[in-house]
Amino acid sequence: METLLKARLALIFSILTHVSLLICASSHELQIVNAEKRIDLTSHIVKVFLTLKVENTGTLPASDVLLAFPPTEFDRLSLVKAAIATGKKKKRSYVPLDVKPIELLDAPNGAKGFSISLINPLSPGATATFEVLYISTHSLKPFPEEISQSESQLVYYHDSAFMLSPYHIKQQSTFIKTPSTKVESFTKLEPTNRASKEIRYGPYEDRPPYSFSPILLHFENNYPFAVVEELVREVEISHWGSIQITEHYKLAHAGARHKGVFSRVEYQSKPSLSGVSSFRHLLARLPPKVHSVYYRDEIGNISSSHLRKDFQKSELEIEPRYPLFGGWKATFVIGYGLPLQDFLFESSDGRRYLNFTFGCPLAETVVDKLTLKVVLPEGSTGPTAVVPFQVEQHLEKKYSYLDVVGRTVVVLEKKNVVPEHNSHFQVYYSFNPIFMLAEPLICSNLSLPTPKGKMEESWNICLMRET
Ligand SMILES: *[C@@H]1O[C@H](CO)[C@@H](O)[C@H](O)[C@H]1NC(C)=O
Ligand SMILES: *[C@@H]1O[C@H](CO)[C@@H](O)[C@H](O)[C@H]1NC(C)=O
Ligand SMILES: *[C@@H]1O[C@H](CO)[C@@H](O)[C@H](O)[C@H]1NC(C)=O
Repeated sequence: METLLKARLALIFSILTHVSLLICASSHELQIVNAEKRIDLTSHIVKVFLTLKVENTGTLPASDVLLAFPPTEFDRLSLVKAAIATGKKKKRSYVPLDVKPIELLDAPNGAKGFSISLINPLSPGATATFEVLYISTHSLKPFPEEISQSESQLVYYHDSAFMLSPYHIKQQSTFIKTPSTKVESFTKLEPTNRASKEIRYGPYEDRPPYSFSPILLHFENNYPFAVVEELVREVEISHWGSIQITEHYKLAHAGARHKGVFSRVEYQSKPSLSGVSSFRHLLARLPPKVHSVYYRDEIGNISSSHLRKDFQKSELEIEPRYPLFGGWKATFVIGYGLPLQDFLFESSDGRRYLNFTFGCPLAETVVDKLTLKVVLPEGSTGPTAVVPFQVEQHLEKKYSYLDVVGRTVVVLEKKNVVPEHNSHFQVYYSFNPIFMLAEPLICSNLSLPTPKGKMEESWNICLMRET
């Protein structure tokens, strides 16, 4: 049965994780009438917002719009989203569109791309406005690579003054927002203007497809470069009333490496001057009604964490044993329980499903590799996961002390995770209530009547056992 299940899941997963390599048949011709690119460099996660006014200059309707990226930038992308604007200025709203990676034929210098699929094809002569958001990580390179406790952190950022595109661009401008006014240097390509925390490139007129002009910025960025190199989150469902979450973190400060000795005295007496790019606290945003929270590292439980709870959310402020400087690491575990009824539901076809958040509870953190394990109750069958973006998936078995047949574990893996990935996902499964009795049977060795339809009874038995 298990192999059959595995085969079925493997099939579903291979469909889900299959990267559609649409070979682009560019039968239609498009041009960008106006492109505006806004780059936000205020944190360590680079966010780029594009507003593209696209015109169909061909004779056939166009059903997709292509985006192009240099190969190095493509590899650092963690998310690309697109939406089409509808309605006039004041009543403008945005409809999300599907974005898929594609192979760009005839693209110079190995440029890679994405295709935005239009719900309604763009007719010849028509124009439409698109909003695109893309996020990349590890794109800011600290320079100098090593700094002392009293120095501020400087970083490099590379891009192009012209937006890389397979289309002709009639007019375009690029705006770059820096975290402070401290900018050491930036490439100039007339017209280039700098005012306060913003640098503007352009407007540039009539650039042919795949125009590229490298720019380099060197500026101050003391944002905490919190990177979880590896995060394993285990979500264990017990039908006896709770969900237990255990999260294993390998956290690093990915900024400029710390050089010299660390002076705690200097750090504590001059917090605004000393270790400005280091971080001491981390904020974990947890669901409301969280209970039995703990936080421990290799040495043991750490009590210096604060939990604030209200109806909407819980916030756990955690403080590692020492502040983190560039290149330093901390390994720790957070655990907590949640009420089952807030996260486990029954779908219309009678299956059960977990509805939980993907991603990492730590605010403004990049996760290089996230593994999310959903441990289903004993006796669950046919699990399927529904995740709003591409993830690697497989199944495992977990045996714990009281288990008879072991528990099915749905394992979801994703690289390069950013806070925008903290969206809901579901794991659906079938469950035979006979297994509700497995646990008490083992421990109390009771003989019970046939369990079908006796859920209530088994509940009572269990509660009695636990109290
Ligand atoms: C740590 O705290 C948890 C929860 O309060 C507790 O169950 C556990 O026994 C503690 N462990 C140690 C080693 O103190
Ligand atoms: C999952 O939970 C979120 C937040 O409560 C809700 O908006 C969403 O509709 C739920 N999804 C499903 C499939 O139940
Ligand atoms: C469980 O019940 C069986 C049959 O009644 C008995 O042979 C066995 O010794 C019991 N085991 C324990 C641990 O009580």
